[in-house]
Amino acid sequence: MIRIVVDTDPGVDDALALILALRSPRAQVMGIGTVAGNVEVESATENALKVLRLLGRAEVPVAQGCAAPLVEPFHGAHGVHGRDGLGDCGLPPSGLRPSAEHAADQLVRLAREWEGALVVVALGPLTNLATALLKDPRLPGRVRRVVAMAGAFGVSGNVTPAAEFNVWADPEAAERVFSAGWPLTLVGLDVTRQALLADEHLERLAGAPGPVPPFVQAIVQAPMAFAAARSGLRALALHDPLAMAIALDPTLASDAPELPVAVELRGAWTRGATLADRRSQPAERGLGPARAQVCLRADVPRFLAAFLETLAG
Ligand code: RIB
Ligand code: CA
Repeated sequence: MIRIVVDTDPGVDDALALILALRSPRAQVMGIGTVAGNVEVESATENALKVLRLLGRAEVPVAQGCAAPLVEPFHGAHGVHGRDGLGDCGLPPSGLRPSAEHAADQLVRLAREWEGALVVVALGPLTNLATALLKDPRLPGRVRRVVAMAGAFGVSGNVTPAAEFNVWADPEAAERVFSAGWPLTLVGLDVTRQALLADEHLERLAGAPGPVPPFVQAIVQAPMAFAAARSGLRALALHDPLAMAIALDPTLASDAPELPVAVELRGAWTRGATLADRRSQPAERGLGPARAQVCLRADVPRFLAAFLETLAG
């Protein structure tokens, strides 16, 4: 059993990742923290609660977190995820409320309560994790592992040519998380761009029982239409579900070397870019001391098959 805390900005792919975690027999979700990212933090919170209502899991605590990045202003990604963050498909209110705790405080508390056992899965900008590090400098030694959907190391970004959204949205927070010294696995666009949900998958899902298939069918329409309009390919990149899957089954990351990593904070064109030093020799003029497992290849077919099975219940 893997005890996880999920820090997330639902967001359509975040919602799918939450379903994966909440339905996984090997995961116990100890808490969910929400953060401003794809949408305002209040919407992210309501959307996390909507997923819990959908699955009948209202007992899982949701703690609302940071409403803005550390330095960068809040931008959002409403064009992708809709105004409400779940594709503007008219879902009923969750009828649930978040806990009174801040997401960073929830993370610090759970890391203390489950010293050495907690896996932190970060699916949005890293503002809450950076805030938790300020609150408890000993946090890195208390958690078992951090898995973050973050960065683009050998491929182009998705928000700018250089930067992936979660890092671009709060580069200062990403830099703190990358250099905190905890066991860190970075699941970037290098692998998540290959994990595509297409209409053929939705057709297979359509016949499955229960409330999840129609929910999935409804929330993915907006981001799939956005992708079709932008790239000509009508598909949803399963960024967060793949990161969640790798947190629950690290063998899915078929090539994930530990490398020096860094976040660019100053570049006019490259702010939010993420670098990994893949040179064979520890060379001069390298990156700083931060190191992380960087996912360069993943077993996407195995992930996709398991993911669809989970959605079908
Ligand atoms: O770049 C992809 C990431 O940005 C995903 O986490 C998606 O939900 C958005 O937050
Ligand atoms: Ca996300």
